[in-house]
Order: sequence, then C-alpha cells, then structure tokens
Amino acid sequence: MTSDTSTRGTWQSGIGFILAAAGGAIGLGNIWGFPYMAAESGGGAFVALYVLCVAVVGFPVLLAELTIGRASQKSPVGAFKRLAPGTRWPALGAMGVTIGFGIMSFYCVIAGWTVGYLVKAIRGDFRNGLSAEQSQEMFTAFQSNPAWVITVTAVFFLATILVVRGGISSGIERVSKILMPVLFVLLVIIAIRSLTLPGATEGIRFLFKADFTKLTPSVVMNALAQALFSLSLGMGAVITYGSYLSKRENLVNAGAAVVGFDTLIALLSGLMIFPALFAAGVEPAGDTGLVFVVLPTIFDTLPMGNLFGIAFYFLLTIAALTSSISLLEVIASYFIDERSWSREKACWSMGALCFVLSIPSAMAGALEGVLGFNFMNLMVQIFFVYLLAVGALFICLFVGWKWGTTAAAAELTEGGGSRSVAVLWAILIRYFCPVVAAIVLGVRLYQLFA
Ligand code: TRP
Repeated sequence: MTSDTSTRGTWQSGIGFILAAAGGAIGLGNIWGFPYMAAESGGGAFVALYVLCVAVVGFPVLLAELTIGRASQKSPVGAFKRLAPGTRWPALGAMGVTIGFGIMSFYCVIAGWTVGYLVKAIRGDFRNGLSAEQSQEMFTAFQSNPAWVITVTAVFFLATILVVRGGISSGIERVSKILMPVLFVLLVIIAIRSLTLPGATEGIRFLFKADFTKLTPSVVMNALAQALFSLSLGMGAVITYGSYLSKRENLVNAGAAVVGFDTLIALLSGLMIFPALFAAGVEPAGDTGLVFVVLPTIFDTLPMGNLFGIAFYFLLTIAALTSSISLLEVIASYFIDERSWSREKACWSMGALCFVLSIPSAMAGALEGVLGFNFMNLMVQIFFVYLLAVGALFICLFVGWKWGTTAAAAELTEGGGSRSVAVLWAILIRYFCPVVAAIVLGVRLYQLFA
C-alpha cells in the first residue's frame, strides 16, 4: 500500500491508533522541550502546572480534536467545511496548516542537532568523562558551524519527506511500534543512572518541589503551551489522526491512554536530565541546548557509555521523525485534499519550502552576534508559546459554541464512554478551557506590550 490517506483508511485496531497517536505526540517536545521549559520556568511549580494543564486543558482539547476528526472523517480544512459549511471556520484549518510550517521550521533543526549528536556519538566524542564546561563548549562549537547544522537539518527533512511521500502506515508505523518501547527502556536506564549520581537528589527536589512564589504569567503560559505542544494540539494534527478512527472506538479511553503515555515520557525525561545536571553542579538555565549539553556528560559514566550515546540519539531521531511526519502530513494533506495536488508534489514542494524557512533557525547560533537575538528562540516563542494556544482556543470555541456540545458529546460517546464524563467534558470545552486560554494569552500579550 502506498498512499494511505488518499484512500481513506481506518486504524486496524484501537491499540494501533493509540500507538500511532502516542508516537506522533511523543517526540522532541517531551525529551527536549519539557526539561528546557522546566529549567526556564523554575522547576517544580512549572511541572505541577504542566500536569494540571495536561489534565484540565490538554485532555479535553485532545478529545475535542478527536471528535472533530472522527465526525467529519476529514483533515482540518475539510473538517471545518463539513461541520460548518458556508462559514469562515475553515480558516481555522488554514491557520493550523500555517502553524505547521512554523513548527516544522524549528522542529527539524532540533532534530538535525540530534542527527549531528548521533554522528558525534558514533565518532566517540563523548568518551573520557566530558565535563559540563567541555560539553557546553562542544555544543557552542557545533552551533557555530552553520554549514554542518544546515546539512544535518537537510538530512532530517529528507527523511521526513521520504516517509510522508510513501505513506505512513506500512513503514514508519511498524518501525515505531518496535522502537518506541526500546526508547522507553533506554530512558528508564539513563534516568536510573542519573538518579544514582552523587548529588542527584537536588535535581529531584528541583523537579518536584513546587515553589509557587515563582509563579508568573509567563510560567503559566509556558506550562499551557508545553502541554499543547507535547500532545500535538492546536493545529489539527489530532483532527487528522481522529479522522481515521472507527466509530466503534471509545474515544475517551483512547485519548486518556495517549495523554498518559505522553506525560509519563515527559516526567521520565525530567528525571533523566535534572539529577545529572545538579550532580554536575550546573545551574539549570532555560536554554534550547539543555539536553544536548547535559546528557553527553553522563554517557561515559555508564557501562558501554558510547553505545548508550549512539542508541539514545538514534532513538531520539526516530521519535522526532514519528512526530515530524505528523506535521508534514497535516500540511501535505491540505494540498492533496483541498487543492488536488499529487502526494508526491505536495511532499517535495512543501518539504522544500519548510527547509528554506528553517535555514535562519539552523543558523541561529551563528546569526546571534549579527541580529542581537536568537532567531530560533523567536520562532519557538511565536509558534510554540503563542499560536498553539490561539489554535486551541478557537477549537474550543468551535466545539463549544458553533458545532455545539450536544452533537460533539454524541460523537464522543459513540463508541462507548460514560455520559457523565461527556457532560463534564462539555462544560470544560465550552466554558473552562476557552476562558483559561483567553486569560493566559491576554495577560501575556498585555505584559508583552505594556
Ligand atoms: N508533539 C510532538 C512532540 O512532542 C511535536 C508535534 C508533532 C506537534 N505534531 C505536532 C506539536 C502538532 C504541535 C502540533 O515532539
């Protein structure tokens, strides 16, 4: 089978959907993004808020996207056309496609770093007990070589395009079903190593001791944004996944499983990074390079450390790939479904356009001296921190006020699922989630401009 979205299939089983959706959700957001955001936002308070945001906003919005997808059996733009014909709501789908471009443009650069670090691990660069300073220097040197960063980014783009072009189900899905559990085991082993380093308890305290005096609007915003990003919400990726779901599936249970897995992996990544960070006596700085600087210092302390490094960056590349294909799939399926492009043309041209957009981010380290700011951090701020929340806000408004919670709740419970859960969900989606998203966005924007 080649093109699996032009002939609309359904997932073979509920567990198949859960694994595919969890594979799309689990990626750099959990392993790179979560620790970096936690470090930036002061640790425990952020982590507590993050889990809260996942439970009371992320989970309901995920169910909202799933119901939109399954009810319409369409990717985002077409979904809104079908559920709200003759309105402007399809623009929300178009915004999702645009956000997809923005996120792709920096996501693939971070994934490129992962590829670059895989090369380093294979070359044996982490051998002989790298100190924290040496590791930081290594990362800075890596960053200031734009030609190399662009090359590894291009390699990653190419891999993403090749997968999406060939259809997703037979290749990547089968591969990730095997490799994601391996990644999980590896994370557990590295976390145990990290937790048994001298001085590691400081790291646990940092991660779990919630000091709510550190709460600022930007911490709240970051926690919300991270929850949305990690669950792939706010731009229609989950609408697309839901559109392949059979009416027999219990959406609430499937959604809960995806949310549970994703959160588990994020917390595990925190347990891998922070104890090692504090053991090395380094202050946690909210920097996009965090994971790349900390981990190389502990590989050498593991038996067969170099192999660990190779395995880790390889699996992280795979995890990033299963996520980046879901981003490119949203973009490509728009051009295929709504503009009648061939899959081949959509994947190559949009992949290439995205690659061009990613070049300033890939050069961010080298450009920083010229621009006076880090271009990639700017992209992360715009797309990751703000626009996903805007997208999620409008998805809540659509389900709660336009499509209506009666129709949506009927879809939600179609394959089983309790009525009372649906009622609670309807209240959250109609009132609570949009209000939270609007307040958080409003306060943050006010602060930005005031
Ligand atoms: N959730 C993925 C991660 O954590 C990234 C991702 C894939 C994503 N598709 C998305 C984020 C759609 C936002 C929207 O790495």
